[in-house]
Amino acid sequence: MTVALDHPLPARVPSAPATIRIGLLGLGNVGSAVARLAQEAAEPLRMHGVQPLLGTALVRSATRERPAGSLVSHVTEDPDRFFADEPDVVVEALGGVTAAHALVTRALALGIPVVTANKSLIAAHGDELLALADRHHATLRYEASCIAGVPFLGTYERRPLATRVHRITAVLNGTSNAILSAIDNGSTYAEALEDAQRRGLAEPDPSSDVTGADAAQKLTILLRLFGQVRIDPATIPSTPLDVLYPSDLEASADWKARIKPIAQASWRHGAVHAFVAPAFLAADHPLANLPDVTNGIILDGIDGAHCFTGPGAGPAVTAATLLDDVVEVATERTVRHRAREAAPCATVVDHPLTGWFVRVEALTTSELADMLMSAGIWCDRLASHGNCTYALTLPATLEGLRSAAGALRAAGGRAVLAIPALDAAEAAC
Ligand code: HSE
Repeated sequence: MTVALDHPLPARVPSAPATIRIGLLGLGNVGSAVARLAQEAAEPLRMHGVQPLLGTALVRSATRERPAGSLVSHVTEDPDRFFADEPDVVVEALGGVTAAHALVTRALALGIPVVTANKSLIAAHGDELLALADRHHATLRYEASCIAGVPFLGTYERRPLATRVHRITAVLNGTSNAILSAIDNGSTYAEALEDAQRRGLAEPDPSSDVTGADAAQKLTILLRLFGQVRIDPATIPSTPLDVLYPSDLEASADWKARIKPIAQASWRHGAVHAFVAPAFLAADHPLANLPDVTNGIILDGIDGAHCFTGPGAGPAVTAATLLDDVVEVATERTVRHRAREAAPCATVVDHPLTGWFVRVEALTTSELADMLMSAGIWCDRLASHGNCTYALTLPATLEGLRSAAGALRAAGGRAVLAIPALDAAEAAC
């Protein structure tokens, strides 16, 4: 007979929830949402062993009227006053790098756990801050930094065998997806951007959303986690949203495809192939139909693809993920994270081989096809839409496309654009 357990497991005795004093760095859209949710969600948090107590909030200007100011015990501009309150955990919701870096460093050096949604901070200083946290037996959680409303980062960080990933293809910026979805539904670019700002989706400087800088930072964090390789987000080839014409979205729809803000990276032997750009997706691509602010990610691994979709931005979902991180920090056992040592830098960062969606004005379809073919690029489809001529090409290098675009301009073509085109066949989920 096999005795599986020598001793019966002890009955689970419910213990009183631990009171956790939260120090809030920032009381803007996200910080205020954290303060409100900590009150509204007191019951489910208590059921998970945590009774949040909102301590001091550190802000840039304490004289500004803040509706959430009444929810915290003090609002101060003074970092010493903030740390004198002895928070059990710091929730960083300041955004930006310089001030956040100094304050998170101070908290971790004092052994205070930190949770943050700040992708700029983690992209720039993640390794250094994680090492600091380790040295001071503190925790740094940043689940809300990528796809804010879908908790997947921490799961993979703690479960290294779940998938061994070699490529990431994702919609990582909610504002950009909301803008393209609204344009699809008849809004102008300016109206769509204004709406995203009104809803609190966009960054304080929304150029970071629409140029692809925000998605590039998130891709860098994901590369570090899944590829164990470091890159500077500024080295990722990026195309801003505002290069698109409404007719580009209409021409794509004629081909039963969609244009979505895509970030992609693959890696091998230290070389990274990556881009951030609005991209043409075949209708049956798993990311083609993500609406509004929804984000999505496909992790291609040796055992197949893992896909997640869900809300990617907005104060409410970000606050929920930050507070769940607080619960994890408050209730965690001692967990060692993998690969805390600094990851090596990529040896090369360049654009992957992709198909291309090409637009030109003032040239015919046959002129466009001839000129692309002269550059060694084969067309799969050609069409005219309004003043523009469009081609969908077979895979080609960025350099090949650049040289073809130069030739198109030299031949009198105007408004030349080439964005990546991704095939559904290579993205099965
Ligand atoms: N501005 C960001 C976005 C917020 O739109 O995705 C979430 O990181």
